[in-house]
Amino acid sequence: MNSHRFLSPSAIYYGMGALDASCDKLASLGRKPLIVTDQIMTDIGYVDRLAKNLKEKGTEYSLFNEVNTEPTDQYVEKGIQLFKKNKCDFLIALGGGSPIDAAKAIGIMINNPGEIKDYMGLGKIKQEGIPVVAIPTTAGTGSEVTQFTIIADTKNDVKMLIGSEYVIPKIAVDDPVLTMSVPPNITAATGIDALTHAVEAYTSRRHQPLADIFALSSIKRISRYLRRVWANGDDEEARSEMMLAAMEAGMAFNNSSVTIVHGMSRPIGALFHVPHGISNAVLLPACLEYAIMGIPERFAAIAEAMGVNTSNLSPLSAAQEGVKLIKQLCADVEIPTISGLGIDKDEFMKKADKMATDALASGSPNNTARKPSKEEIIKIYKKSL
Ligand SMILES: [Fe+2]
Repeated sequence: MNSHRFLSPSAIYYGMGALDASCDKLASLGRKPLIVTDQIMTDIGYVDRLAKNLKEKGTEYSLFNEVNTEPTDQYVEKGIQLFKKNKCDFLIALGGGSPIDAAKAIGIMINNPGEIKDYMGLGKIKQEGIPVVAIPTTAGTGSEVTQFTIIADTKNDVKMLIGSEYVIPKIAVDDPVLTMSVPPNITAATGIDALTHAVEAYTSRRHQPLADIFALSSIKRISRYLRRVWANGDDEEARSEMMLAAMEAGMAFNNSSVTIVHGMSRPIGALFHVPHGISNAVLLPACLEYAIMGIPERFAAIAEAMGVNTSNLSPLSAAQEGVKLIKQLCADVEIPTISGLGIDKDEFMKKADKMATDALASGSPNNTARKPSKEEIIKIYKKSL
């Protein structure tokens, strides 16, 4: 076996009540955190809940609750200013993927010179950042356990992928209580994002044994519980399973990498401002149909994890059955198509050339077991309309 490196936060609190259980540890991380979040988290009382816990431990905080859209270089700049002005010494991110990605970038930029765009790509960051606690309120991105952050470069309309071991949050808190009020459409999109992470990690050229365990476990949970949690958002067991699955999928792709779907979905997000989970989900079926020929045995294992009896099937037939199940799951939780999102088909295809170029430049498609050309990527965009 080749040697591998497996990275994760130093502690992960998970399960119902994990937020309350983690607060002693959070309060011990420093003197004063900057809480990075959005207006909704403030309005629904989650910020107050966190603040009350911190105050009981004698910890004061400052609040940056403006990360209301995808994280941009402008939010990062503002967060750095607030962090310095209020003399904070660690960060707590509370919310979906956006506040978490913003906080990770702020933490890095406190200790590194220049601008965030200087660090686009992998392994460019030289200094460890400020400690980050990541508390997700959706079950999807897995950002709480990963070495990646995606920040929009607002001047060039590019979603920058920044990856480094220094980006991994110090502590992740996966409390499904915080996901109970997520509406069905976001539950579906974030759940399919998590499934995409697990499937891509398992079939990546950079797959590795420890990450495989997390990926297959995540796929099993999502195929069993996503429909249930979509239909009944107050199902505590299903919420808990999905939260765990999203974290497992994050652990998997953090160490094995994502592939073609994420590579192709980021340009859609950047140019058409489609939420991340949706832009992945609309591409998933056509991308998988393309990719299975590269590594049918691994796609067959995914089919088995989803409940397909593969004993009398060739690896390719089993892989195709698995892709059918994934397509059915997307349809059952009402994932839209690109035209269903209100995007004009001609407008979309006019930008396909730039999107394909940006997708390849991100490096993710090259991790796919079947390496796509620019023309093939454009074809997959067309097939996903
Ligand atoms: Fe994702």
